[in-house]
Amino acid sequence: MRQPLVAGNWKMNGSKASAETLLAGIKEGMGGISKTEVLVCPPFPYLGLAVSALAGSRVAVGAQNACTEAGGAFTGEVSAAMVKDVGCIYVILGHSERRQYYGETDEIIAKKYAQALAAGLTPILCVGETLAERERGETQSVVARHLDGVMETAGIEAIARGVIAYEPVWAIGTGMTATPEQAQEVHAFLRQRVAAKSAEVAAGVRILYGGSMKPDNALELMSQADIDGGLIGGASLKASDFLAICRA
Ligand code: PGA
Repeated sequence: MRQPLVAGNWKMNGSKASAETLLAGIKEGMGGISKTEVLVCPPFPYLGLAVSALAGSRVAVGAQNACTEAGGAFTGEVSAAMVKDVGCIYVILGHSERRQYYGETDEIIAKKYAQALAAGLTPILCVGETLAERERGETQSVVARHLDGVMETAGIEAIARGVIAYEPVWAIGTGMTATPEQAQEVHAFLRQRVAAKSAEVAAGVRILYGGSMKPDNALELMSQADIDGGLIGGASLKASDFLAICRA
């Protein structure tokens, strides 16, 4: 049985003050949420703050990125070991905004994934097609390439130790959610692709959906057989919305 995971991706939003308010709101509102694992991923400068604010709660903290290298002369970078050291247990990798704006390739993401595992973090590997790719009928080949980027280099064991997030790029921050059927189709495809290497890993790996998930569509999406939770952007910035999704 896969435990649902709802993760909030705050992206580059907020301030120290708004982070404190949001964290307090989430911590206070966790009553009644027992089956779902809850995670928040604030920007780097607020990770330590989040770990302290959420101490003693059931809410975990993760980062939104980490470096391809273990440490040393890489000005401006943050290592997976540092993320782990301040108390995080997860790291989001390969988000489409990283792929699109920072030129992250499957090769770069595979390196980051390996570093995350070496540091003892659980990577959340984001995969997803653009609208143009979907319209060209390339959805499956694109998500397969994103998944294989890690699965072929780091191996099926690495997939077993992580989480996958299907995020259609056209649904991110647009209010245009994939229908539950559209999402389920891709989730099932991803699980089958993992199953081709190991049925056991496929049965256990969690596949989250991300892309305009909101309190009013979360239940329907998460009711799908292969959707094991959500990676939430916009709606994770409001405690009541985020908690409503966790309850769904
Ligand atoms: P959204 O973002 O929920 O604002 O669409 C999701 C994400 O980018 O992780």
